[in-house]
Amino acid sequence: MKDSIKVFAPATVANVVCGFDVLGFAVDAPGDEVIMRRRDQPGVVITKITGDEGRLPLDPAKNTVSASVQHFLHHVGREDLGFEIELHKKMPIGSGLGSSSASTVAGLFAVNKMLDSPLSQMDLVPFAMKGEELACGTGHADNVAPALLGGFVLIRSYDPLDIVRLPYPESLYCTVVFPHVDVPTRDARQMIRTKVMLKDAVTQWGNVAGLVSGLFLKDIDLIGRSMKDILVEPVRSILIPGFEDMRALAMDAGAVSFGISGSGPSVFSFVRDRETAEKIASLKQQHLRSLGIDSLAYVSTINAEGPRVLD
Ligand code: HSE
Repeated sequence: MKDSIKVFAPATVANVVCGFDVLGFAVDAPGDEVIMRRRDQPGVVITKITGDEGRLPLDPAKNTVSASVQHFLHHVGREDLGFEIELHKKMPIGSGLGSSSASTVAGLFAVNKMLDSPLSQMDLVPFAMKGEELACGTGHADNVAPALLGGFVLIRSYDPLDIVRLPYPESLYCTVVFPHVDVPTRDARQMIRTKVMLKDAVTQWGNVAGLVSGLFLKDIDLIGRSMKDILVEPVRSILIPGFEDMRALAMDAGAVSFGISGSGPSVFSFVRDRETAEKIASLKQQHLRSLGIDSLAYVSTINAEGPRVLD
């Protein structure tokens, strides 16, 4: 067994507008890094966290990375082993980019690799979902599954868990803009109505099916016209400054789609080429600046690989 490993896991865009809790994809950047080392005593400890401005717990029972690694060790019958973890946050927390998922997935991928991969990446998903439960109260998989598997993912069912990897047009770019306002997933989930009208459900599942068909057919127009959310976006978008103006700017500049990334406040667009993607990112940022709000922007293609060993 190796003595140490350094791993990267990517940020993810969950929901993909119409697929609340059932669709997500990974991006190339940003992402988090974990360095994991063997230690002599059994148990998992967090020795260092950087980039979190002191917001994440060092207590191994409360930190999503150590807690999910501990679950994994219990499952594979190796609680005799000990590991120390350094977590380097390279992405904003509470951004809607799957920040806790990227950290948890990096930790699970690292420990699984150190043990010569007793579990497949698909089999790691339930352990990563435990981390989500700790972070935001529910174990949804639409961030952790794409972070672990890469690419575009459908959670066809939660019970039993049934995850499907979807094809997608490889030429598609994604521009994500994170406005510097805090929207914790736990709070953003509590805002959503728990009952919906049948006619709204019909509209929504038509769009989800349209998006999945568009991905299979690599029909970017169908993808764009299916990315509409009448259930969740109308409620959550209220928390995002300049949301409708940013939509108009993006769509006028040629975006395929516009919507909230995960539970927000990040917004994202699919765009047909890098140049337009960068222009759209900068238009959204300019608009946020005019409202007195700083932001970060990321432009990338969809990440096919998921987590990777750095050295
Ligand atoms: N599906 C989850 C939600 C994703 O929208 O609450 C959170 O990133």
